[in-house]
Amino acid sequence: MGPLSDEGLDLLFREARTYYAWTNQPIAEETLQRLYELSKWGPTSANASPARFVFVRSPQAKERLRPALTAGNVEKTMTAPVTVIVAYDLKFYEKLPKLFPHNPAMRDIFAKNPQLVESTAKRNSSLQGAYLMLAARALGLDCGPMSGFDNAKVDEEFFGTGQCEDCEEEFFPAGHVKSNFLCNLGYGDRAKLLPRSPRLEFSEACTLL
Ligand SMILES: Cc1cc2nc3c(=O)[nH]c(=O)nc-3n(C[C@H](O)[C@H](O)[C@H](O)COP(=O)(O)O)c2cc1C
Repeated sequence: MGPLSDEGLDLLFREARTYYAWTNQPIAEETLQRLYELSKWGPTSANASPARFVFVRSPQAKERLRPALTAGNVEKTMTAPVTVIVAYDLKFYEKLPKLFPHNPAMRDIFAKNPQLVESTAKRNSSLQGAYLMLAARALGLDCGPMSGFDNAKVDEEFFGTGQCEDCEEEFFPAGHVKSNFLCNLGYGDRAKLLPRSPRLEFSEACTLL
């Protein structure tokens, strides 16, 4: 397998933008499943995979997000075909026997150290959110990540009761899933983009030792 073509690199990086306005093309449910199936392969520490993803699609579910959004993020979120809540499970270590079977001691290392749990969950769910964005771009979708929202409100609304609206079983048990950031997904409206802001040069951001 060789490196990606220039076209692939453009799609993932050079031509990919952060979108705030969307065409009305919807996202098929199978596309969201493909999105997860790709992004799940990104590496996380001890393969712990602490991120949990809530794909907010229906107008009713979007309304549950609205009160938590900063004013500038309301319109772009309400009009996006999907908004994903990138969250993390503070009890991610309960799945280590499945995810890290060759080292059974790992579960207890986390279970005994809440600080390590918190930093691992935050760091790795952020990475997993980035894998999700790159996977989305690889599938031809566009992204609009956002941290301008009230995490506590989202957590109370979506993770507080532990009861998923449409399902009978508990999906996200109360209290130990927390939001990290939101990301709008859809097919972006290029005509509404502002010019791209610059990035730091290699010499400003990198040192070779
Ligand atoms: C974690 C994160 C949080 C962000 N939060 C917001 C936000 O709350 N509202 C917003 O309009 N843009 C937000 N942005 C968008 C950034 O400003 C944008 O990605 C950046 O300027 C690069 O734009 P470009 O991809 O078009 O080059 C956020 C981006 C990231 C990665």
